[in-house]
Amino acid sequence: MKKYFLFLVVLSLFISATAQKFDQLAKTPPMGWNSWNKFHCDVSEALIMQTADALVSTGMKDAGYEYIVIDDCWQVSRDENGEIECDKERFPNGMKYVADYVHSKGLKFGIYSSAGTVTCQRRPGGFGHEYQDARTYARYGVDYLKYDWCGSTTQDAKSSYTNMSNALYAAGRPIVFSICEWGSNKPWEWAANVGHLWRTTGDISDNWNSMINIFEKQKELARYAGPGKWNDPDMLEVGNGGMTTEEYRTHFSLWCMLASPLMAGNDLQNMTPETKSILLNKEMIAIDQDTLGRQATCYRDNGDYQIWVKTLSNNEKAVCLLNKSDEKKSVLVDFSLLASIRSGGRGFGGPPPAAPAGGSGIPGIPGAQGMPGAQGTAAGQRAQGAGAPAAGQGMPGVPGGMGTGGQRGFTAMTLEDYKVRDVWEHKDLVLKESSMYVEMLPHSVKVYRFIRK
Ligand code: GLA
Repeated sequence: MKKYFLFLVVLSLFISATAQKFDQLAKTPPMGWNSWNKFHCDVSEALIMQTADALVSTGMKDAGYEYIVIDDCWQVSRDENGEIECDKERFPNGMKYVADYVHSKGLKFGIYSSAGTVTCQRRPGGFGHEYQDARTYARYGVDYLKYDWCGSTTQDAKSSYTNMSNALYAAGRPIVFSICEWGSNKPWEWAANVGHLWRTTGDISDNWNSMINIFEKQKELARYAGPGKWNDPDMLEVGNGGMTTEEYRTHFSLWCMLASPLMAGNDLQNMTPETKSILLNKEMIAIDQDTLGRQATCYRDNGDYQIWVKTLSNNEKAVCLLNKSDEKKSVLVDFSLLASIRSGGRGFGGPPPAAPAGGSGIPGIPGAQGMPGAQGTAAGQRAQGAGAPAAGQGMPGVPGGMGTGGQRGFTAMTLEDYKVRDVWEHKDLVLKESSMYVEMLPHSVKVYRFIRK
């Protein structure tokens, strides 16, 4: 009897320290819209309802965007019972009314709070009200909660987020839990059972440097992502005006390669054709939403020029060439080599391989030596030919065993197994040779999907 009692005590301690989350949610990276990047505190019932309309009328809903998330500033106070109160001037009919409208469009509704005493805009935070707020959100009809880290002072991150996760679970309504503590406490190491996505960095700004710096920080995190547990490099800036169309295309492509949540952050009611063509590129979205849920790894890093690979289901893959430099580049791409490599395996998500010392130069690409898929001369590449053995030539010791064909569960593939699709040109490549020169604009990408024949 005593033993049984002890067992119960230990069990209850274990349960209270362990998070329970809704397991069947966010099996692919969540997609939707969030008010913050464009509207900051200027949120209102009208904006949210009109944005829900626009999500449908622009075709974004059909493309997969489903969550409409109101970020900071919808809340102003707590009443005498501690109940959170919305800004009555901006949301005259309350939050349930807005949620009902969003649901009536076949969409899902998201809201924002913070684990601390205040939000980042100094509105009331959730600290000490977790179970109460979770019940309120369930009553509103919330489907997604973004939970920030402002006002948190000395709180422990893991236990704070676990507490809210448990509160949401106890409230009984399946809610995607989006952890937003900016990567400060390495949530990728502990949040897989707590939330469905976690921010990995500080806030994005609408400019190239901010975007590309955040992208670089995702390199080591690939191993932590998968169905129901995503690294979140922050919301999209596409269409907000601070980057060129080319840069926005790069931003969107990189986020899709990372299997990132795709939360549009622009004004959906006023989109240029260019913005639409980016946010609505269904071939790119399909790469993000692939059910295998793999985050791309950096296959080769030559500084300004990188090659990223995302393994897709059905032994397919997406390959992204990235020109980070301010100049045009002409790169010689060996498609037969790219056909044979994959991300994952040993060293998955770890540091990318260094360029082999003394690698052969590429004509016309300063400092871009020894790139796989871009080695040597065109003649040398031709000799390799399509259907060359899947050995990663010139890449001894490449972590991840990429191109070795010897990984468990990995079928060695050759170029003959695939057709190669240019995901932005929306065309299959006609490859006369297994290698070809590809012209790349500054700050641009090329994304190829290797589709099984
Ligand atoms: C933090 C978050 C942002 C946004 C603002 C709102 O900075 O990281 O994404 O939610 O707060 O105040």
